[in-house]
Amino acid sequence: MSKAHTFDDFKNADLRLSHSHTESGSIHWTSPSNIALVKYWGKHGWQLPRNASISLTLNNAKSDTILHYSPKKHKDKTIDLSFFFDGEERPDFAARIEKFFSSLLELYPFLSDLHFEIRSSNSFPHSAGIASSASAMSALAMCLCELENRLFGTLNNTADFNRKASFLARLGSGSASRSIYPHLAVWGQHPSAAQSSDLYAIPFADQVHKTFSSYHDDILIISKKEKSVSSGAGHNLMEGNLYASNRYQQANQRMEQLIGCMQTGDLETFGQIVEAEALTLHALMMTSNPPYLLMEANSIHAIKAVQSFRQSTKLPLYFTLDAGPNLHLLYPDEITAQVKDFINNELVQYCENGLYLADHCGQGPEKIIEQA
Ligand code: DP6
Repeated sequence: MSKAHTFDDFKNADLRLSHSHTESGSIHWTSPSNIALVKYWGKHGWQLPRNASISLTLNNAKSDTILHYSPKKHKDKTIDLSFFFDGEERPDFAARIEKFFSSLLELYPFLSDLHFEIRSSNSFPHSAGIASSASAMSALAMCLCELENRLFGTLNNTADFNRKASFLARLGSGSASRSIYPHLAVWGQHPSAAQSSDLYAIPFADQVHKTFSSYHDDILIISKKEKSVSSGAGHNLMEGNLYASNRYQQANQRMEQLIGCMQTGDLETFGQIVEAEALTLHALMMTSNPPYLLMEANSIHAIKAVQSFRQSTKLPLYFTLDAGPNLHLLYPDEITAQVKDFINNELVQYCENGLYLADHCGQGPEKIIEQA
């Protein structure tokens, strides 16, 4: 069994460029979003989770990122980058990435030796209320690891590459650490997940029933409005939440129960835990100071419709929620036809402009080779 990695393992190489460095190039990756089953909500230190979390890696909802690098003109210790989203220059996004790159200088001193132009876009509609930080930060982390490997040859082994990408993605956005792996990932140290760590996520699809590798997540867009509270602010609110310590204990217990029933393929217990988690996340927001109510009336109508569909059909269709009003419908591949009929006949009335996005578990990040 290999040992758990520590922070120092990620900065063991001296990654500095010589003054005569002139190389420039482009790196291109796509990376998907993910949906948490047991939620990460509450953090401390340098992006460390208060409890372990587990998520399905999606397929269709993804970010596409090109990192162009060239030698920097002025030799100083600042980060020099420009950022384009959907072809449009976005100084606001550039400022966030600049802060992220500056925070990485201890690990990656070469970041201040290069000029970067980053071009990114998402496969999902911009204002669909879908969290994009997981896909965006994981795509960027894959680009950074490839850059490290190109410049220094230090990440030739795939497991090392992915672990470091997950570690860097976490520093950008906690949930992004889980998008690095196909189908299913666990982030946060937990006794039910061997080799798990607070520093990075680990692949987990091989540890559970194969039904989960083709699981579906259809996202009902109840509202396209921007979130009224960012997840960063939401995590901070947990620090003053009266229920916080019980919550972290509960999340770790649910991890154990959920992993147990995912191993046997017990979809009923799986669904009960997942729905309880979604409602707990919203209960935590409702009990924070100030409190937030992030569901809409149509979120509740849709939840009730899913529950009565389940009662009448006995089919394993369950929901989860992110920190927003949209419902994620989770179900196994075998019942796709029945669920699509149900969405089209009964649920689209609760979606803004009838919009929903059909997604399913996917392979994780993909390197795009540019045609010569
Ligand atoms: C509700 O990963 O977006 O989606 O680490 O501050 O970037 P930061 O937060 P983020 O939080 C995600 C919260 C969640 C649950 C989850 O994905 O586990």
